[in-house]
Amino acid sequence: HSAAYPAFRGAIADFLHNPFLHRESESVRYFPDGLLILENGQIKAIGDYQTLHTQYPHLDITDYSGKLILPGFIDLHIHYPQTETIASYGEQLLEWLEKYVFPVEKKFQDPDYAQTIADFFLDELLRNGTTTAVVLTTIFPQSVDVLFTAAQERQMRMIAGQMLMNRNAPDFLLNTPQSAYEQTQNLIQKWHRQDRLLYAVTPRFAPTSTPEDLEIAGYLLRQYSDLYLHTHLSENTQEIAWIKQLFPKASDYLNVYEQFGLVTERSIFAHGIHLSDSERQRLSQSQSAIAFCPTSNLFLGSGLFNLQATQTPSPAIPVGLATDVGAGTSFSLFKTMGDGYKVLQLQGQALSPFQGFYLSTLGAAQALHLEAKIGNFEPGKEADFIIINPASTPLMKLRNQNQMPPETLSELADQLFTLMILGDDRNIEATYILGNLWKDNEQLTMNN
Ligand code: GUN
Ligand code: ZN
Repeated sequence: HSAAYPAFRGAIADFLHNPFLHRESESVRYFPDGLLILENGQIKAIGDYQTLHTQYPHLDITDYSGKLILPGFIDLHIHYPQTETIASYGEQLLEWLEKYVFPVEKKFQDPDYAQTIADFFLDELLRNGTTTAVVLTTIFPQSVDVLFTAAQERQMRMIAGQMLMNRNAPDFLLNTPQSAYEQTQNLIQKWHRQDRLLYAVTPRFAPTSTPEDLEIAGYLLRQYSDLYLHTHLSENTQEIAWIKQLFPKASDYLNVYEQFGLVTERSIFAHGIHLSDSERQRLSQSQSAIAFCPTSNLFLGSGLFNLQATQTPSPAIPVGLATDVGAGTSFSLFKTMGDGYKVLQLQGQALSPFQGFYLSTLGAAQALHLEAKIGNFEPGKEADFIIINPASTPLMKLRNQNQMPPETLSELADQLFTLMILGDDRNIEATYILGNLWKDNEQLTMNN
């Protein structure tokens, strides 16, 4: 007599293909009354409840009928030290960094403080249904240690790395190429590929690194396999003008990173708002990923990301959605999709609900080359998933009353769209990591 498999019943949806390239109806997979069966924290089977449950006599079924079951969200770019500076008034990028961001990052020298914020940050991600994120830290190696430790405790798949900065910021936030090299190398050896953790070499952005610093970043990337390169690119017009002064020999912003070997298929560039056609062509060639951060781009007045122009080159540039907290104004990928929709509306484009949810799940996993492990419910993948209550407020209950659960794909699209436009953390009823229900300690103590 073997132990029962954990199983989850509900309206189950995920993506098998890219809806920007395939018909939407062929990209999405949907079981209105579905069953997800797990074994050892991985997906064992997915299918229609009626057909599947008879094939497995020993199931321990948790019933989420009336709720949606989706893969956990992936946030392609977020700053954990900026958790407490979210919603700081005024200014565009460069002034905003000086006024709010640099002072708060200094506090992460203190490992106790950094740990408090790291724990809060990861719980806030999970409360919002985000199970994997690509995270920026500070120059202080202890700020990286505490984040990876906290992610490891929660068994989360997480990508992060120490920030490299050696000019154009207050002295207290500068490391040297030599110290950054030694510290980063130690951190890579300590954390890269430990459990579900992966390391990203993270120069903040070209203006805060000298050529020598970017050289070190390229050297580190070539020393280890599977490292990511994570930075910012072409977010703000003043930033771009500054790049021309700082790197007069570079033909454009992307070329600065190219000169140091930082533009690869494992590079993640946040923003990419003011790119030229030539830069987009080269990103298509390199298959680097762009993190589309609509709430941040609107908040800082940075500009409107041209999604269509990233999808027309062949092959298309990999894109994922990202919050970019604390310039971003929400931890919620629902809200991020909603602002993405509006950013595209202003340009005569659109973001369909299936495209929005794809960019927050499988699309982001593909951009990270992690699609063999996360992003959808194919058997063998890691069981990170979320339970969504589409009627968490009176208004959402009214709006979705006739489709609990949605029966057809068009009803599903409609319900997902209400989540994009109206949804937030209140719609996330539960978050599972490797098949285990995550419990918010903060909430537990507050309720007691
Ligand atoms: N560019 C360089 N640093 C930052 C940052 O912290 N936030 C944003 N939005 N852009 C940046
Ligand atoms: Zn950012």
